[in-house]
Amino acid sequence: MIPTIKWEDSRVLMIDQRKLPAKVEWYHCRTYRDVIQAIKKMVIRGAPAIGIAAAMGLSLGAASIRVSGFKEFKRQFDLIASEMLQARPTAVNLKWAVERMTSLLEASRGLKLDEMRKLLKLESQRILEEDIEINKAIGIEGAVVVPYGANVLTHCNAGALATGGYGTALGVIRAAHEQGKGIKVFADETRPWLQGIRLTAFEMMEEGIPVTVIVDSAAGSLMRRKMIDLVITGADRIAANGDTANKIGTYSLAVLAGENNIPFYIAAPLSTIDISIENGDLIPVEERDKEEVCKMRGRCLGPKDVEALNPAFDITPAKYLSGIITEKGILRPPFADAIKKAFVC
Ligand code: MRU
Repeated sequence: MIPTIKWEDSRVLMIDQRKLPAKVEWYHCRTYRDVIQAIKKMVIRGAPAIGIAAAMGLSLGAASIRVSGFKEFKRQFDLIASEMLQARPTAVNLKWAVERMTSLLEASRGLKLDEMRKLLKLESQRILEEDIEINKAIGIEGAVVVPYGANVLTHCNAGALATGGYGTALGVIRAAHEQGKGIKVFADETRPWLQGIRLTAFEMMEEGIPVTVIVDSAAGSLMRRKMIDLVITGADRIAANGDTANKIGTYSLAVLAGENNIPFYIAAPLSTIDISIENGDLIPVEERDKEEVCKMRGRCLGPKDVEALNPAFDITPAKYLSGIITEKGILRPPFADAIKKAFVC
């Protein structure tokens, strides 16, 4: 399975996802600002992967702070952390990772600064390794809802590339495949970044999981023709009531799945649930440059200067979800209660 991100000495290396599948190239980050740029420019993308990158970026930031006392070290670290938080707004995993690194720093007050720097680096590596374990657990929990021989539709890329490894939605698909369920995957191409055709199709083909790409607007027609048994996607942020932010187009899929009586699941780690946010209307939705819609490989697709909107995510109301597959089991409606319980246990 293709790795997403790793430490190499004092550099963070990430697969440049903008170039896949044509080229498998490592992108080198020497400073925390390189990591911020990599997140903004989609070198690395996918909620859990962004969180891991942010943690590694903070470790690079901590290594660059040249002061002697904890107070000033912490002040500068907090400035780097707030810069990191601005990289992309929707995926809560970024905020989660920044908070985890900041808490570790606070808890290690009293240690030498060099020891703190080492701990921060180790913590970022731990976040990466834990993420892979969590995704494997999501896979096992989720495979239960995948029938033998099912045709499974997914959107965007919630695979190994969007995480530390294995994936969330694609983790469920991988686990079902490993269990010999004989499934077939339909992957929405996912305009405008084409994560479906470029990344999901690439990951599935690498592992010999049968995959067929469709244009985003074909999904409803396939459902109506009874060609889809199940829809599984990832999530960027889930509110306390279960409303879910994910790649633009997820909402339409969920409504269409409801209309066609097809189960619709979200697969995500518990760290994607933001219990501080009551409902989906409060989730910040990233608006990206209109050029991403209007141009492909540098060429204008429509009239020069045409207006375009480019929301990167949408919100799927919880009422359309059959379940949220997490590493601790499947949360079922009513989601507000299930989420509360998951966070108490
Ligand atoms: O804009 P992207 O590619 O970062 O969007 C990614 C998605 O929407 C994924 O579905 C989500 O982050 C879950 S990844 C496990």
